[in-house]
Amino acid sequence: MAPSLLSAQAYRKTEKTLRLAVIGCGGRGTGATKQALKADKDVKLVAMADAFEDQLENSYQNLSKIFGADRIAVKAATKFVGFGSYKKAIDEADVVILTTPPGFRPQHFEYAVQQGKHIFMEKPVATDVVGIKKVLTAAKLAKEKNLNVVLGLQRRYQESYLKAYDHIKQGAIGDIVSGQVYWNSGGVWVRPRKPEYTEMEYQMRNWYYFNWLCGDHILEQHIHNIDVANWYIGDYPVKAQGMGGREVRNGKDHGQIFDHHFVEFTYPNGAIISSQCRHQQNCLTRVSEAFQGTKGTVYTDGRSVLKNYQGEEIYNHKGENDKNPYQVEHDRLFAAIRSGEVINNTEYGAKSTMTAILGRMATYSGREITWEQAMASDFKIVPNEDELTYNSVPPVVLKTDGTYPIPVPGVTKFV
Ligand SMILES: NC(=O)c1ccc[n+]([C@@H]2O[C@H](COP(=O)([O-])OP(=O)(O)OC[C@H]3O[C@@H](n4cnc5c(N)ncnc54)[C@H](O)[C@@H]3O)[C@@H](O)[C@H]2O)c1
Repeated sequence: MAPSLLSAQAYRKTEKTLRLAVIGCGGRGTGATKQALKADKDVKLVAMADAFEDQLENSYQNLSKIFGADRIAVKAATKFVGFGSYKKAIDEADVVILTTPPGFRPQHFEYAVQQGKHIFMEKPVATDVVGIKKVLTAAKLAKEKNLNVVLGLQRRYQESYLKAYDHIKQGAIGDIVSGQVYWNSGGVWVRPRKPEYTEMEYQMRNWYYFNWLCGDHILEQHIHNIDVANWYIGDYPVKAQGMGGREVRNGKDHGQIFDHHFVEFTYPNGAIISSQCRHQQNCLTRVSEAFQGTKGTVYTDGRSVLKNYQGEEIYNHKGENDKNPYQVEHDRLFAAIRSGEVINNTEYGAKSTMTAILGRMATYSGREITWEQAMASDFKIVPNEDELTYNSVPPVVLKTDGTYPIPVPGVTKFV
């Protein structure tokens, strides 16, 4: 193992070239690397890790064309492929980007923190409760080590959301008592099975449809809107109940996830948030958040509009010229590393991930589940690292009729 280059403390006010590694070289890993390289001109990509060589190579070619060999300084010896590749890439770097499917995030995050690296990691941060606990424990260590951890819940770095938050904190709409958060869209990609794939490779490639890897779309996408509710209310729900199922998601490459969820989250102060997410074509598309306070309302979707109950506008942020929040995340991360400021988004990232898991538990089981019950459980769907090879049997097994087991409300139990 290559020695860690500098301790986190030594980065304070550093002017050194920062060595970057990306773990998970798909769409977001490539995008986040571009943003990191744009954020700070003295950053070089020195290592890449992916479960699949073709994914790594595509990303490498794409990045090399844009930034050239000086900044994409990844050599054949620092391109790592396989389940264990993350360790080798992390060892090479000062700053790491963690952008695999979320099932792997806890183990990657834990290792990066142990090695004293600064981190950009994507949401969600886990797919099960055991993973959440691992992330929260590692978060404490990250704090002790003064590591920067920026998380890809980009609404927290988006001007319109930040401005609305400031007004809410100043009391513009009073206390939030209810809200509605939405990710209703037509759905996402499908990566069909190929004859040469093992079952494990198939699930890893088509990861969106398998819960141990993805966590279902209530977690994978709708976390963004659920996180806005937690952020604006300033707390996390005490319980959730809801319903969901699959009406149109019934193709052979659709794995086991639902195509709609509706959840009612209750917060400690009694506020109720209704959360809905849908992946169905030709239906109402809506990705936004609305909250009602004791004195007024707020609506956010990249714009933000605050009104009182006379219907008068208190604040309107159009958001058209705001900086891309994906870029702002990296601008802030590298500025903090350079200046010695420490940003650590892990706790809210883990707790908003947990909120979405709680919602999924409620829709899958059809029961009311409390935060306390869920956190007291040892609910685990991701295999241990030593159980993962391209030939091992994944935690979800194809049935003889060619379908996967799908959660059934009233039958499926979680806690
Ligand atoms: N914040 C946002 O708006 C946003 C947008 C897109 C994606 N994301 C998040 O980014 C993450 C990745 O999404 P994506 O769209 O880039 O997916 P993707 O499928 O394009 O990329 C994932 C990559 O990880 C690789 N991988 C899988 N398992 C691995 C392992 N164990 N070790 C190393 N590499 C592994 C895959 O081969 C693939 O190249 C997800 O958590 C997703 O939610 C966030």
